[in-house]
Amino acid sequence: MTEVRRIAGSPLEAEADALVVGVYSDGERLDPGARAVDRATGGLVARWLAEGRMRGRLEETAVLPAGGDLRAPLLILAGLGAHAELDGQGLRRAAARAARAARAAGVRRLASTLYGAFLGDDAAAAAVVEGTLLGLDRFLAYKSGGRQESPEEADPEAFLLVAEPEREAAVRRAEVLARATLLARQLANEPANQLPPRRMAERAQAVAAGAGLDFQALDEREMERLGMGALLGVNRGSHEPPRLILLRYRSGREGAPLLALVGKGIVFDSGGISLKPAAGMHEMKMDKSGAADVIAAMQAIAALKPSVDVIGVAPVTENMPGGGAQRPGDVVRAMNGTTIEVLSTDAEGRLVLADAVAYAAREGARWIVTVATLTGAVVTALGHEAAAILGNDRRLIETVIEAGRAAGERYWELPAWREYRQLYKSEVADLANVAPREAGAGTIVGGLFVGEFVGEAAWAHLDVAGTAWVEKPAALTESGATGFATRTLALLPERLEQLL
Ligand code: BES
Ligand code: MN
Ligand code: ZN
Repeated sequence: MTEVRRIAGSPLEAEADALVVGVYSDGERLDPGARAVDRATGGLVARWLAEGRMRGRLEETAVLPAGGDLRAPLLILAGLGAHAELDGQGLRRAAARAARAARAAGVRRLASTLYGAFLGDDAAAAAVVEGTLLGLDRFLAYKSGGRQESPEEADPEAFLLVAEPEREAAVRRAEVLARATLLARQLANEPANQLPPRRMAERAQAVAAGAGLDFQALDEREMERLGMGALLGVNRGSHEPPRLILLRYRSGREGAPLLALVGKGIVFDSGGISLKPAAGMHEMKMDKSGAADVIAAMQAIAALKPSVDVIGVAPVTENMPGGGAQRPGDVVRAMNGTTIEVLSTDAEGRLVLADAVAYAAREGARWIVTVATLTGAVVTALGHEAAAILGNDRRLIETVIEAGRAAGERYWELPAWREYRQLYKSEVADLANVAPREAGAGTIVGGLFVGEFVGEAAWAHLDVAGTAWVEKPAALTESGATGFATRTLALLPERLEQLL
């Protein structure tokens, strides 16, 4: 694990194996750090660019021997792209690529001046720290030798951000957010046989113990007592018992309102009796990403200490086609008394969320945010660049989008007009869990179905099915789970507190 430290003073003096500086593709090509290094090395950086060895495009990197008055033996040029196009997310990506280049070069101590490139403010310092930690992250748990990687591909042991003391708080916050994202990825990446619901609850318990959160996990018996027929119905086809994970952050403030973060935790989604096609089915181990995000966000919230109370709720089960599995056509009764006709056992996320959300409403949540890899339709609508958001409360939706902007996570709102609610009426029960195929609007229907269980709470729903996982390596996620939405959820309580 790479330790993160802020160091003040001249970058030329940084005690490191490599120093990162930024270069642009247009205008003044050298950022302030690069200019300082350029002067100290007799024009090394400018020469490198003049010789056309690097264009300065975003995510481009070059590693070169430094020399001159520079203490670090290696210099890493990080491409920042065009001045006008660089934003926080670009800076995260540039930092991520620089960190990977450093690792590939065997760097043990990495120093960076990158934050001065762009705004030189808290947001920029945070972006560099987050980008570095996210970019270095890999899932090696099941590589023989585990974390004992070969020395030449080991992570740097220290990352030193050259920045004034005023940036210290921003650096610490960024580290909290990045480490939470890494936790979310770790959980979401776990294969289903390694992380059945009971184990996932144990992991959540360990997180709670480390962070100072209250922990509880409801078992089957308690779910039965509460009447959680929708969640239990999904579990029927599995040999692994379900869990409802509950994490609680107490602000200590008298009369503080309650925010509930509710995440879908399907440790494996085979589709159940409405079985999915075999191709790509293995990726459905990521169907617990929403729960992973919530558990990880709660860890961050415990460190950020907002003045609203927060509960994390994660309904966790497999969706399997075992002999006891529920059938298409079955009717189940959710905790709030609503009856549901299960027309597709593959629309299981909304079923487990129905009971989890009803539970959150009963706990008295003022705000409920649901996060789920709920529908393939969101990939059709938005691809992998943004998650869908919808809900019943304008201010909450906008606050989530704003938190996402700060986090580098994009949301695009879909309409929640009441006409869509006609689409999942059932002939035999109060609701059906799917609309007819021809109705379309799959992401809206799935989301609004969940919204039927929120009671009086203000509610926003995030469908992260397109953003929770990457198939090909990207700057901020080498492979697999992205932890998308973790940082948004972690930042949300502080922003809601300002609405009061
Ligand atoms: N977990 C899936 C959604 C999903 C799809 C997540 C692709 C990640 C990537 C969900 O449970 C599901 O199966 N949804 C169905 C809903 C349909 C039956 C109404 C879908 O999207 O096909
Ligand atoms: Mn499904
Ligand atoms: Zn699913």
